[in-house]
Amino acid sequence: MMRKIGVLTSGGDAPGMNAAVMAIARSASLYGMPLIGIKRGYNGLLRRSTNIRDDLLELNLDTVLDIADQPGTYLRTARCDEFLDPAYRDIAVKTLEAMEIDGLVVIGGDGSFHGAQELCRLGVPCIGIPGTIDNDLAYTEMTLGFDTAVNVCVDAVRSIRATSRSHDRPAVVEVMGRHCGDIALSTAVSTGSEIVVVPEVTWSVEEIAAKLNKQLAKGNTRATIVMAEGCWESMAPFDMYGFLTSHGKECYQGEPMSATRFASVMKRMCGMVEARATVIGYTQRGAEPTARDSEFAFEAGNLAVKLLRDGISNQVIGMEGNKIMYMPIDEALSFKRPFRRELFDLVNSL
Ligand code: F6P
Repeated sequence: MMRKIGVLTSGGDAPGMNAAVMAIARSASLYGMPLIGIKRGYNGLLRRSTNIRDDLLELNLDTVLDIADQPGTYLRTARCDEFLDPAYRDIAVKTLEAMEIDGLVVIGGDGSFHGAQELCRLGVPCIGIPGTIDNDLAYTEMTLGFDTAVNVCVDAVRSIRATSRSHDRPAVVEVMGRHCGDIALSTAVSTGSEIVVVPEVTWSVEEIAAKLNKQLAKGNTRATIVMAEGCWESMAPFDMYGFLTSHGKECYQGEPMSATRFASVMKRMCGMVEARATVIGYTQRGAEPTARDSEFAFEAGNLAVKLLRDGISNQVIGMEGNKIMYMPIDEALSFKRPFRRELFDLVNSL
């Protein structure tokens, strides 16, 4: 019989994490199950703080009701490299036992789910809610925070395209996503951006310059190149130092490619007066959740508590066919992520 449960948010924060915690608190309260909030991801279970309230706190429904639409995560978050070490996982299990926490909801991305998988193996009933803007978990159609991140990027790119049009100059825009190009692709599609570059597809600087030149030849002087932050890992070797210094631009040997450097290269390869770069950055993570993310958080939070109450554990929650679903964590983590190649080709071919 599941009496008390715990919840933690882990990894990079994602819009909707608070809404999920609120839904969990409301459900737990409905079923009469006390809820403990574990702070800073798995770190809270390692009990390193001098004040216990810095690690673990009973979640009061009143407090949690106010956080649903707030960005960030009320429980705080962190990555926890020590959790890769079995000795630290044993400490976590002991903390859960000492606190009489019978089940745990983990809200986080891939790394957080691997931590949950290890806890499941040690006999701790866990349920995962996919909380990451990156949309890089293959078993689910969407992760919590992805929709909000895309909407932030769409707003930003629309503004950038407006000023690009005024100045007749192209723009390079870098978005987040780690090794996943989904934020970039959805942003490009939703804004009518002409070129998108992602880590899933190998590319070369010369190829993108040819595409940009094609746009310029068509009279499109303000094309937008949306680049996923992970795209630099799939770039064909390019002598940036040699190229930029031969064009009179200061550059240091060994300096890595970046959005700003890339814009500089494009400007010179395409003979333009100017090309500017914008890195959208953390505004993508710190935004208020969209209705879609909030709804997913609500459904996922409620389902997580219901599953634990019904004695079903070691599962992760996701979306399939636009419906909430769950599946065993081991199965979910074995999926290989599909990439929407046709859509990608369509954007780049127009
Ligand atoms: O996983 C979410 C994410 O925002 C990625 O898109 C990004 O690569 C990373 O986290 C940034 O992490 P940090 O907060 O450590 O800079």
